[in-house]
Amino acid sequence: MNDTDHLTGENRLPQGRTDELRVELGGRGYPIIVQCDAWDSVVNRVRQSLPDLTHTLVVCDEAVRQRWGNPLVEGFGETGRCDLFTVPSGEPSKSLESLGRLWDWMLASGADRRSVVIAVGGGVVGDLAGFAAATYARGIRLVQLPTTLLSMVDSSVGGKTGINLAGGKNLVGAFWQPSLVVIDTATLRTLDDRGYRGGLAEVIKYGLIEDADFFDWLEANADHLLARRDDVVARAIMTCCRIKAAVVADDERETSGRRAILNYGHTFGHAIEATAGYGVFTHGEAVAIGMAMAARLARSLGRIGDEFVARQDVLLTACGLPTRWPEADPQAMVPVMKKDKKVAHALLRFVLPTRIGHVELVACDSLPEIEAAILACR
Ligand code: GLY
Repeated sequence: MNDTDHLTGENRLPQGRTDELRVELGGRGYPIIVQCDAWDSVVNRVRQSLPDLTHTLVVCDEAVRQRWGNPLVEGFGETGRCDLFTVPSGEPSKSLESLGRLWDWMLASGADRRSVVIAVGGGVVGDLAGFAAATYARGIRLVQLPTTLLSMVDSSVGGKTGINLAGGKNLVGAFWQPSLVVIDTATLRTLDDRGYRGGLAEVIKYGLIEDADFFDWLEANADHLLARRDDVVARAIMTCCRIKAAVVADDERETSGRRAILNYGHTFGHAIEATAGYGVFTHGEAVAIGMAMAARLARSLGRIGDEFVARQDVLLTACGLPTRWPEADPQAMVPVMKKDKKVAHALLRFVLPTRIGHVELVACDSLPEIEAAILACR
């Protein structure tokens, strides 16, 4: 694949076709496979990647167990030992309690250092199962099989794993790279519209932060994306994963600031989720409004003009995403933003654009400007 392939919008990935790229991390590198409607092949793909596989621990979101989890358990069970752990859908499963249950179950299942955790579901399952894999027996292998658009383009790639604390999201975790990621666009068919559209917020984010041509292509293909046209969705996923893989290869543990660009819109977004009450907005919806606020902050700091803000708003809206929240309250949101992981010595830092396709990590302690950006999206 070359970098401009995604610009054509041609039907490049019909049923059963596969595309592949690699996260280049030396000995911790791994392939990401994007395929259309070939769930039957997943067991073989995992076996090919991990030929010494004898024991699989399938950790599956309850909502997709029947359709996507059970066939895997059957397949892995044919030639080895396979155990299934079901996780209730939703953010509360990313808790210490669930993690404790999962660790105990792994022990009871006879897991050892040759066992492999297979995470099947969205970001909640991927983060929880990933953290269990990172910590059980000081770390065992992990395969990510994301079934939501959001986890396909973000959480399944790059090795961030973890759980929430009562005081905040993702505050305990580890970097633990998977051995393999397999993305099958067929799984998106069982995703509800709201969940799917939330994933589109992260897709749009990639165009805004790193690839102006991709942003143009998204503008031209918004209708096809909303209609979940397989080839268009697969091409979008592949492009997002290519961008994420490159960013992660540059800055695996988020030390240089490069990886932080993936958090465009997330400082406002996390504060929106927390102050609205978890569950009011999906993560993707909160990120969409968060990007709207971040763009307004960037504009008031003279970093971008009106055109950026308008194009971003128009594309988000075309993809069925919100750009406003009438109840947004700066007094409630700013204290949450001060607990963001990007805060350095009490100084708030934001990922802000300079143009479509480029963002920077910027320190900003101007409360009036931050509050005005929030109020501008009410
Ligand atoms: N979700 C942001 C990252 O993986 O760094």
